[in-house]
Amino acid sequence: MEYDGNTLTDLNAFYSKNDISLWKQVIGDDLHYHFGDFSDTVNPAEALRQTVRNFYSAIPFGSNLLDAGCGWGAPAGLLAREHGCNVTGITISSTQAEYCRNLGLNAHHMNLEEFEPESTFDTVLFLESFEHIVEKAQLLKRLQSRCRQIIVSSNAWGDGNAIYRPTFGLSSAVSTPLELCALLRHCGYEVQSIRDRRPQSLPTLRYWKDNFDRLGEKARIDSQLRVLKDYTNWITASPARLQEFEQNAPLVDIVARSSLADGGSST
Ligand SMILES: C[S@@+](CC[C@H](N)C(=O)[O-])C[C@H]1O[C@@H](n2cnc3c(N)ncnc32)[C@H](O)[C@@H]1O
Repeated sequence: MEYDGNTLTDLNAFYSKNDISLWKQVIGDDLHYHFGDFSDTVNPAEALRQTVRNFYSAIPFGSNLLDAGCGWGAPAGLLAREHGCNVTGITISSTQAEYCRNLGLNAHHMNLEEFEPESTFDTVLFLESFEHIVEKAQLLKRLQSRCRQIIVSSNAWGDGNAIYRPTFGLSSAVSTPLELCALLRHCGYEVQSIRDRRPQSLPTLRYWKDNFDRLGEKARIDSQLRVLKDYTNWITASPARLQEFEQNAPLVDIVARSSLADGGSST
């Protein structure tokens, strides 16, 4: 299942550079690479875990789950340990895939843009990874008969401001919540719920920023970690910018059910 084609090379390098110890010093020892949920805690490690736990009510205990864009495996590990899930992870980074396998996770180095599911899943989870997919409709259609539900947790762009929108480094333009819902419906999914948890996520930026500051200018920060540093510094540069970000850049959690899914258990 390993991918060694040419098209992966650049993205693979982009996501794989930087010493793992640098990543740990910025995003925390568990390597959750997403925003936290600080609703009930001020502790960043707890808030990061809470983001994953928020999905437990939508994901049947012990079910089969594809973690699409699994990063360093922190969400997959929690879902397996705490929620009994049988998790398969996919990441475009060979370093991340190897790291996940060393944690005992079933993880594959693969480009989701070319992923053809061979087995079926109760849930496909995109935790801050769907925004990186360029051919979103094609991927959703390929998954449609292979999964019961999709959970998309994605950095989005405000519907009222859709004409001016940012582009992720090496990825596609950021979608608005309405576009994401329309896309899911168009590809045969019924949207069950959608919510914006940007306000509860904001302290994550301060956490990353403080950690980058602690590392100082001498630390050799490249690629994806450099993008994170620039993004964090830019947004936290002033209270006004942070407020603008909160209003214009929702962080949406969408749960959608496939209309083709038969409700049977997966293999
Ligand atoms: C922001 S990280 C989120 C990681 C993980 N979901 C987490 O929350 O810790 C985005 C992830 O998406 C993966 N990714 C981006 N584009 C991808 C693609 N085309 N195919 C597979 N994985 C991809 C990256 O390798 C990275 O692991």
